[in-house]
Amino acid sequence: METRKTVKEIRTMKSRGEKLTVLTAYDASMAKLLHECGVDVLLVGDSLGMVMLGYDSTVPVTMAEMLHHCSAVRRGAPEAFVVGDMPFGSYQASAYDAVQNGFRFLKEAGADAVKLEGGVEVCATVSALVRAGVPVMGHIGLTPQTASQMGGYKLQGKDDGSARRLIQEARALEEAGAFAIVLECIPAQLAEVISESLTIATIGIGAGAGCDGQVLVSHDLLGMYEKFTPRFVKQYAQLAPQIKKAVAEYVREVRQSSFPNESQSFSVDIDYLSILEE
Ligand code: KIV
Repeated sequence: METRKTVKEIRTMKSRGEKLTVLTAYDASMAKLLHECGVDVLLVGDSLGMVMLGYDSTVPVTMAEMLHHCSAVRRGAPEAFVVGDMPFGSYQASAYDAVQNGFRFLKEAGADAVKLEGGVEVCATVSALVRAGVPVMGHIGLTPQTASQMGGYKLQGKDDGSARRLIQEARALEEAGAFAIVLECIPAQLAEVISESLTIATIGIGAGAGCDGQVLVSHDLLGMYEKFTPRFVKQYAQLAPQIKKAVAEYVREVRQSSFPNESQSFSVDIDYLSILEE
């Protein structure tokens, strides 16, 4: 019988040099498909807000929305290692809030761990969560919840000072007890230096191949989100045009009465005309 990965196993993967595969999932059927393909970690990212809920950023996403989708992912993939992304406003105000909301991810949505954005400023919160029994994945570099303060969705760690700061933040998060860290949109060489200097796994997105693992938004990988595709995304399929083609065909066939045909319909041997004449 398959057993769920543990935080300890994820830590061991780094020490064995095994690459960690992470993809976002927001619903049960996709979670099942991704898990069956051998993805190590399903991240219920707050990218949910943009790819599934139609918001312009991740900022409006609520705890209720995250818990709703995280529970669906858990139901779809009971044996997957699931990480719930803490939405903006659920962990910044106080460590107490963060721990309460962390508990909700584990107890109500079946998550194995939570992810939160930020460096040194969130380390006390990370420690509080870990002490309370909530495993934490960090997230530094481009942090979408505060992208506006950073001047937009831009490459981070480009100069000496910001590169140094990112190295310090990664170390501080490891010290605070994070079991892995997402490195988003930073130069590949910097990501490699950070990865080599930590004992916990780095998971890159737009951070080159030197990270210990990679994460992508599954809608980007599958070519289903047409609004915007970051440069670091590789589309392994272009499903949006295929979906549009299939749906257009359905619309045409319904209008022409060629769907459903006989094999897609039910028929029984009753003389309906005589019933109408009665
Ligand atoms: O919300 C998200 O999907 C993320 C990943 C892109 C790392 O944070």
